[in-house]
Amino acid sequence: MSITLRNVSKSFGSVGVIHDVSMDIPAGAFAVFVGPSGCGKSTLLRMIAGLEDTSSGTISIEGRDVTQVEPAKREVAMVFQSYALYPHLTVYENMAFSLRLKKQPKAKIDEMVNEAARILHLEEHLNKRPAQLSGGQRQRVAIGRAIVRQPKVFLFDEPLSNLDAELRVQMRIELARLHKQIGATMIYVTHDQVEAMTLADRIFVLKQGRLQQAGKPLELYDDPDNQFVGGFIGSPAMNFLDGRVLGQDQGLLRIELEGLGAELAASVASGIGEGTKVKVGMRPEHLHLAETGFQAKVEMAEDLGGVSYLHARVAGGKEIIVEMRGRRESLDGKTVTLCADPSEVHVFAEDGGRLR
Ligand SMILES: Nc1ncnc2c1ncn2[C@@H]1O[C@H](COP(=O)(O)OP(=O)(O)OP(=O)(O)O)[C@@H](O)[C@H]1O
Ligand SMILES: [Mg+2]
Repeated sequence: MSITLRNVSKSFGSVGVIHDVSMDIPAGAFAVFVGPSGCGKSTLLRMIAGLEDTSSGTISIEGRDVTQVEPAKREVAMVFQSYALYPHLTVYENMAFSLRLKKQPKAKIDEMVNEAARILHLEEHLNKRPAQLSGGQRQRVAIGRAIVRQPKVFLFDEPLSNLDAELRVQMRIELARLHKQIGATMIYVTHDQVEAMTLADRIFVLKQGRLQQAGKPLELYDDPDNQFVGGFIGSPAMNFLDGRVLGQDQGLLRIELEGLGAELAASVASGIGEGTKVKVGMRPEHLHLAETGFQAKVEMAEDLGGVSYLHARVAGGKEIIVEMRGRRESLDGKTVTLCADPSEVHVFAEDGGRLR
């Protein structure tokens, strides 16, 4: 089912936490809300679930305005970070719980629970209690409780954050597989941009209750709308240097890098006045050694074999990271001259907006 938000806002008392958010999540999408702690991800998800009321704007599911509809009637199921299983019930009983409450026939319950157990590889654990399971298995039981309800929309609030790194990766793959298998719309909340990039077919970046950009993972990576999205998506993060516009011709902006005695060119078509202060953003993998460019001193080189990360410092003290592939001669301690292709130099206005 598709989900549409139109001009949705939310205040707790006089404090606004969600500001005028509009978004379209197509049926069957795997949408991820990502942003730093406190930006309003959980609040927005809970509003879609109906667990928080909406101060203004409308929330629609499959074209039906559900803004005032109670949670149970929205056909959504939410999986939380803390899985809150019933400790005295078995895995089977935990998953059957909501179906029993709804007085479903025993054969039907059996069928649904076994099907969920099959999808989640829990068949051999059905008679265990939560205490006898690993963290990942418990998390799968929590997801199983949602699956048996056959919701049209799954809402996940940081469901993997209690798991160790290895299990998270494993569960991430299982969630992606689950999504392919059952084809329901999923919305997944995380502050981890890697999780967002790997799971989502559509990412919504939030900051301080405002939607910053929505799009496919690589659209956001290649073409960020503002400095925040540029810096938030991607690891290691985009490097930013201060610049000043020297001039512009034929779609190329010439920018002086302040304090570095160097200039570089960026592909920017829209007109920008000479002398305008800008932020220049360059991803670590887009910086390369060159004859002309700006200088940086490599303070530490992580030479990992296939890839090297150079932690370097430019005049004035700013640290940058450069990623290089297949280097066999370490640049540790060296001063290097760096440049990036004009099409890979992102330019941002002082207010953070992208200049294209
Ligand atoms: N019941 C509440 N009453 C008052 N303020 C609240 C309430 N719930 C959340 N907030 C505030 O709303 C803002 C957004 O909170 P929310 O929990 O949605 O953030 P989040 O993006 O999920 O953060 P995290 O990544 O830490 O989970 C925060 O500033 C928070 O303090
Ligand atoms: Mg949260």
